[in-house]
Amino acid sequence: MFICTNQKANDKPCCAKHNASEMVEHAKSLAKSLGLTKELKFRISSSGCLGQCAVGPVLVVYPEGEWHSYKTKEDIEQILLRIADKTLIKD
Ligand code: FES
Repeated sequence: MFICTNQKANDKPCCAKHNASEMVEHAKSLAKSLGLTKELKFRISSSGCLGQCAVGPVLVVYPEGEWHSYKTKEDIEQILLRIADKTLIKD
């Protein structure tokens, strides 16, 4: 998962203005607690501009190429929970 944390000058829209760096740390912590990092080797990285600034903040999940806009930590949680539900084998 790549989460854009790009900062643009002036008043141009960018993901950094939406606490994107904090969201990366939140996502990493949650992915670890859900078992995504250990079981699936799922990784979360900050990225430069992903070219979707107008609808940001944004992230993209690979290999699916699934794009998401988010607003809150809860949005990030919902995205990661869906990934965990789709991919992890439950007891
Ligand atoms: S600044 Fe995040 S997509 Fe461009």
